Amino acid sequence: MIKKIETEYLKYFWPMRHYLITCGELPRANIIAVSFCMPVSNHPPMLACAIGQHMHSAELLQQTGEFVVNVPAPGLRRQVYYCGYHSGRDVDKFKETGLTPLPARQVSAPIIAECVAHVECRVEQRAPAGDKWLFIARVLDAYADEDLETGLCELELSLGEFPQKVYGGRFTGKAS
Ligand SMILES: Cc1cc2nc3c(=O)[nH]c(=O)nc-3n(C[C@H](O)[C@H](O)[C@H](O)COP(=O)(O)O)c2cc1C
Repeated sequence: MIKKIETEYLKYFWPMRHYLITCGELPRANIIAVSFCMPVSNHPPMLACAIGQHMHSAELLQQTGEFVVNVPAPGLRRQVYYCGYHSGRDVDKFKETGLTPLPARQVSAPIIAECVAHVECRVEQRAPAGDKWLFIARVLDAYADEDLETGLCELELSLGEFPQKVYGGRFTGKAS
């Protein structure tokens, strides 16, 4: 019989995509790097994303109930990691990364011009999920760069090896 051993299970979810979620409103809009984001319903179109309960973005989402999932173009790795390691409580991430905010079509949060696809969402439910809030949201609009749609531009599926530093060490094999 094959022997089964304990594992850091998250590595089996790798590669994950990385998204830049915009929330809040200009001039105080914020950007957070998020991997825990997935479609959950086709009819109506809905998605869910898990955001740390103490993060600035969770506070903004609670206040406005609106956000945009921006899909980064290849080559935005530095900006993704900046937004994933700094809090909007301390810095203006648009200013620090040089990313450009543009008005969204239906929500108050801006889109990021340098990203190649944008999914505008309105929060319908917020559920506690461990150290995160799970925001379950209706998709109000979705659009992408023509080059992406026609295949001239391709997305990066992941940014290298399983990033143990970001996700690792969360599960030691014993449920608590
Ligand atoms: C690649 C990457 C993916 C991340 N994914 C998530 C995620 O899915 N959920 C989350 O709460 N934080 C995630 N983070 C961490 C947040 O982006 C980070 O804590 C950020 O500084 C919070 O910013 P804020 O305080 O401005 O909201 C990720 C970070 C990186 C680098």
